Amino acid sequence: MSAHASPAESRISVRDIRLRKGQDPLICLTAYTAPMARLMDPFCDILLVGDSVGMVVHGLPSTVGVTLDMMILHGQAVMRGSRRALVVVDMPFGSCEGAPEVAFANAVRVLQETGAQAVKIESAPAVIANIRYLVERGVPVMGHVGLRPQAVLVEGGFRARGREAEERRQVLGEMQGAVEAGVFALVIEGVAESLATELTAQCPVPTIGIGASAACDGQIMVTEDMLGLFESSPRFVRRYGDLRGLVASAVERYANDVSARRFPGHGETYFSTRRKAGAPHVDVPAG
Ligand code: KIV
Repeated sequence: MSAHASPAESRISVRDIRLRKGQDPLICLTAYTAPMARLMDPFCDILLVGDSVGMVVHGLPSTVGVTLDMMILHGQAVMRGSRRALVVVDMPFGSCEGAPEVAFANAVRVLQETGAQAVKIESAPAVIANIRYLVERGVPVMGHVGLRPQAVLVEGGFRARGREAEERRQVLGEMQGAVEAGVFALVIEGVAESLATELTAQCPVPTIGIGASAACDGQIMVTEDMLGLFESSPRFVRRYGDLRGLVASAVERYANDVSARRFPGHGETYFSTRRKAGAPHVDVPAG
């Protein structure tokens, strides 16, 4: 058995996802670590190892600085922590925009070194030919249109797309290009409800929305946004937890206990047992 946590056949497959077009909504979240993947796996159809890991975990200002090695490391962790969900790994900035052979070699590295079943590629017009090249060679690809975070430098920031007629046509064109190239599902990020409705109606594979209304075939959020880890988050995020408050209060109580010598207590301390002559020294916790 390889480093992969479980055989791919016991997981939700790319085909299962494709067949969910127009069916029950797809439930998707980002995951970057094994323990979080373990907690989310029973509830999710797709765990996306998003390149948002660069901002959420590594404190980068955007996803532009994320590398293939980072994605592989986090993809391996999520595969170890999950057994049921389809795991999709984001192809980072720069890994798919060059020669098709290089894009293919990078995607193969991700699939072989993580055991994940698919990759996601932000579907700018310039990478559509490479998406087709990958799909024709056996790499399942999820597309990503609308707000494409890897375009932050040319766009000058993160902003919703498709509000004006010209940009709306562009996003519809991105969707058509990705579909013709063979994507099995499509993330739609940061577009108005009317455009998400049109995209979903025209797209033969499931659309997965983030900031793209309830019109999509499924939803995805950055888990840490949803859990309330950050002071501020985009307006499309609904907070289902207050991780920030929970962590701050737990760490404050810990700091107070250490300062006041209330931690560690009797039950959290090892004490020496009485030793017979010559026997090794053994520490046992107080019971
Ligand atoms: O990187 C990411 O987390 C994503 C999701 C926001 C869809 O691409």
